[in-house]
Amino acid sequence: MSHPPKLRLGVNVDHIATLRNARGGRIPDPVRAALLAIEAGADGITAHLREDRRHIRDDDMARLKAAISKPLNFEMAATEEMVRIALATRPHACCLVPERREELTTEGGLDVVGQHNALAPAIARLGEAGIRVSLFIAADPAQIEMAARLRAPVIEIHTGGWCDAITEGHADKAAAEWERIVAGARLARSAGLEVHAGHGLDYATAERIAALPEIVELNIGYFMMGEALFVGLAETVRAMRAAMDRGRARLGTAA
Ligand code: PXP
Repeated sequence: MSHPPKLRLGVNVDHIATLRNARGGRIPDPVRAALLAIEAGADGITAHLREDRRHIRDDDMARLKAAISKPLNFEMAATEEMVRIALATRPHACCLVPERREELTTEGGLDVVGQHNALAPAIARLGEAGIRVSLFIAADPAQIEMAARLRAPVIEIHTGGWCDAITEGHADKAAAEWERIVAGARLARSAGLEVHAGHGLDYATAERIAALPEIVELNIGYFMMGEALFVGLAETVRAMRAAMDRGRARLGTAA
């Protein structure tokens, strides 16, 4: 492929807020992190306003929207409260995710097959307001087909299972998850969906997934914030960008 589609890097700043909230004050500020990440090459900023406000708070979303020059991706559950906040904030995009209070992070994808009746009005209201809606789902054919039927313009493939299998040394599971992601990305693209991916990605997994031409955006947070503690956020963003570029250069050669 002579002109590979650009692969965007969305930097998730949730865990700057996690650290700030450990002391309940104003530092470190996720808005400062967002500005620094953009200066270092991030194509967008992602933040998840959870129901329990454990990291990002309402005023963070408003401040991010006001301060950043790149697209803001507002991750949220498809609840009435969150839809209302998103409509008031007017981010570039909303990524709808499942949410349970007791989970440590977003553990699985949205069940769009089981919840299509509940999701359809949220997708429609956000879309009518000019907000690009993405659905965070597993690379499962039934979920992908339902996402297309619901006319969501974008899906984000949940890469957490694949990344965990690699970390835990389960090679067979990692290979099966990878095949599912490759097939899911192809199916989604052929159904007219824009395809993103995220959750649990590090330099190695981001480089590998960058070789899938259907995927045009990666959203990455936790690993990058951990690295940033040691080498700085700007250096981490540059290193992630370089890993993604190396992977993109192998476009179409991913096995
Ligand atoms: N994409 C979505 C939809 C997420 O919920 C998360 C976690 O907030 C991420 C990407 C980023 O995952 P991680 O922090 O593991 O990189």
